[in-house]
Amino acid sequence: MFDRVYNFSSGPAVMPEAVLKRAADEMMNYGGSGMSVMEMSHRSKVYDNIIKEAEKLLRELMNVPDDYEVLFLQGGASLQFDMIPMNLAVGSGKVDIVMTGMWTKRAYAELKKLASPRVVASSEDKTYTYIPELTAEMFDPEADYVHICYNNTIYGTRYTDVPPCSRPLVADMSSCILSEPVDVSRFGLIFAGAQKNLGPAGLTIVIVRKDLLGRQPETLPAMLDYNVHAKNASLYNTPPTYAIYMCKLVLEWLRDLGGVEQIAAVNRRKADMIYGFLDGSNIFHATVSGKDRSIMNVPFVTGDPELDARFVAEAEEKGFKNLKGHRSVGGMRASIYNAMPEEGVEKLVQFMEDFEKKL
Ligand SMILES: Cc1ncc(COP(=O)(O)O)c(C=O)c1O
Repeated sequence: MFDRVYNFSSGPAVMPEAVLKRAADEMMNYGGSGMSVMEMSHRSKVYDNIIKEAEKLLRELMNVPDDYEVLFLQGGASLQFDMIPMNLAVGSGKVDIVMTGMWTKRAYAELKKLASPRVVASSEDKTYTYIPELTAEMFDPEADYVHICYNNTIYGTRYTDVPPCSRPLVADMSSCILSEPVDVSRFGLIFAGAQKNLGPAGLTIVIVRKDLLGRQPETLPAMLDYNVHAKNASLYNTPPTYAIYMCKLVLEWLRDLGGVEQIAAVNRRKADMIYGFLDGSNIFHATVSGKDRSIMNVPFVTGDPELDARFVAEAEEKGFKNLKGHRSVGGMRASIYNAMPEEGVEKLVQFMEDFEKKL
């Protein structure tokens, strides 16, 4: 049996080992409190320090300007597909969306129920293997906002530039938050489920410009209202206390590594290593080429489903777990989030080389 495997899952995903060890050390008695963080009142002083510290660290690491709220919510990124229109599609009701895969399709399906969405561009013609070229003229100047998915977890593409639109930009950063620097001030709202780069599932982060709040209809239920959460510093009701604590540990780990610039350099090396191998391989091929390649999710195929299955099975046996591609794409996918050590990617590439040689 393995002690620890290399986990290439797309999410919930690998966590930094140092964070898991620290959580284990603090499990029974957090900071001399005599109890686990799980057992604490969210209104206690000890817990208040944890949530405040988590927010402070996220603000520092992402350089979040003061005119933005940082919210710790529940319901996953998927609930944001509803909360965002409920809170922001309150002017013309028009929303522009760029279709780059399943997560924008999901967002669009919800938008149709709550607002008047328009697809500005789509990469469906080539199975979402690229990010469409976008120009300022393509966007509706009357749209309440523009929805994009910054990193497409399933198809393995990512934006390398912030789209040039004058309307508030809403970005799903579930699978790329903190992977490389982004200029938060260019976005109206950023959201992310925590279970890839931030911590365990159950926590969702929303970073929203304050001037976009305050126009919600009075009929909006409290739990769906960003303002309610903002006014109560994410403590309107019981937040996902343990997930927030784990997120704080992940953020401390990242700060101690040197922050986002540092991890971005590591991420680039990891991505270069695996794409470099794929580009030179005679049996494996990356499904995305060029600048839109994700540095977090790397889909690849052999072109032969039987060989794919054999590769995945042999990899599992050797401790390289969760390499099977998403059911809608097939093939393989290596998710190499912040917490995946460089050594894990090196060993995977070595294993792929050996697999190829043996054929
Ligand atoms: C980019 C992206 N958006 C949204 C989601 C949905 O997240 P959740 O399961 O937290 O609702 C995922 C999940 O993998 C994702 O990768």
